[in-house]
Amino acid sequence: MTLSQKYENEAGMLAGISPSVKPGSVAWRSPSNIALIKYWGKRDFQLPQNPSLSFVLEKSFTETSMEYRYKGNKGSRNLKFDFIFEGQSNSAFELRIRTFLKTVTEFLPFINHLEFKIGSRNSFPHSSGIASSASAMSSLALCLVSIEKELFGTPKTDKDFFTKASFIARLGSGSAVRSVYGDWSLWGKHIIIRGSTDEAAVQVNKEFNPMFKRLADAILIVDSGKKKVSSSQGHKTMNDHPFAEVRYRQAGENIKKLINAMIIGDEQSFIKVVESEALSLHAMMISSNDGYSLLKEATWSIIDRIREFRIKSGLFATFTLDAGPNVHLLYQQKDADAIKAFITLQLLNLCETGQWIDDRIGKGPEKLY
Ligand code: DP6
Repeated sequence: MTLSQKYENEAGMLAGISPSVKPGSVAWRSPSNIALIKYWGKRDFQLPQNPSLSFVLEKSFTETSMEYRYKGNKGSRNLKFDFIFEGQSNSAFELRIRTFLKTVTEFLPFINHLEFKIGSRNSFPHSSGIASSASAMSSLALCLVSIEKELFGTPKTDKDFFTKASFIARLGSGSAVRSVYGDWSLWGKHIIIRGSTDEAAVQVNKEFNPMFKRLADAILIVDSGKKKVSSSQGHKTMNDHPFAEVRYRQAGENIKKLINAMIIGDEQSFIKVVESEALSLHAMMISSNDGYSLLKEATWSIIDRIREFRIKSGLFATFTLDAGPNVHLLYQQKDADAIKAFITLQLLNLCETGQWIDDRIGKGPEKLY
């Protein structure tokens, strides 16, 4: 049985709410994540064309609170909620949440019998070019599954709780699926991880070499503006992309190579795979039928300087890219002093108003109440 079938079957038990139900509130802090093996291309509804692998960040997160109270069955088809983002209303985010709540009501039908007050804030500036959909959608999903737990006592185990939160988060944004666990997560069926599925992420519990458990990520903000092509539009360009099949196969092979490199502590293979993934993602955009690029001159200069620095210093320093011009410089926390000196001397002049975020691999979401 697929997860979707299981949750559909269980939905019948999550529909009836007694008018005497006590109002309550839950809140979660959930991190953003950075994929080293990229999800790019979807099929059906929010299912990935290839598996992806990421780690969660420590300092880049969203906090979401949800107050709920009984609304009654009258007009139960009409969703009722207020949404405040960082103390203000925000119609774009509100619309996205409305669409998300409507979508997940199929699996969490109690949503129709409650009214909500939702509040949300990000730890990073909204205009930093950091994608907030992963942290925002995962924090909402975690709140919703927590409400299910408070009202119905399900999901019973932690494992089931986080699987369901991941599944629900996926329906809001694909990359959010990987934000419900600490450290490394894999999304998408892959032979190397037992239990992996396209419907939710799993935490990767392999014995990685310790160096990969202490990765730091300096997010160098090249441009904080709105992207000219969103990720959702970008995924669509894969539907008629001449290299799509090769790309999906490459991602699967790279997962295997990367996980093996992390187990045996093979820095060179790690760097080769990670940089090739970052550049392949952008090569897909450039070679799509409507050919576009989100990279800027400063992105290329930063990449060149990181590669030169690695050769000259002999230190572990590599980069990855999200679907945008900003560069994630990955390094080991033990080399922080040398790397920060390098950033200050050689990279900050390439960043927009000298902005960068000093982040690292994180422990995953936290329930605030
Ligand atoms: C390049 O998760 O933002 O960051 O599912 O449409 O919300 P939607 O797309 P989104 O795509 C992220 C793409 C990526 C790679 C990744 O995170 O794996």
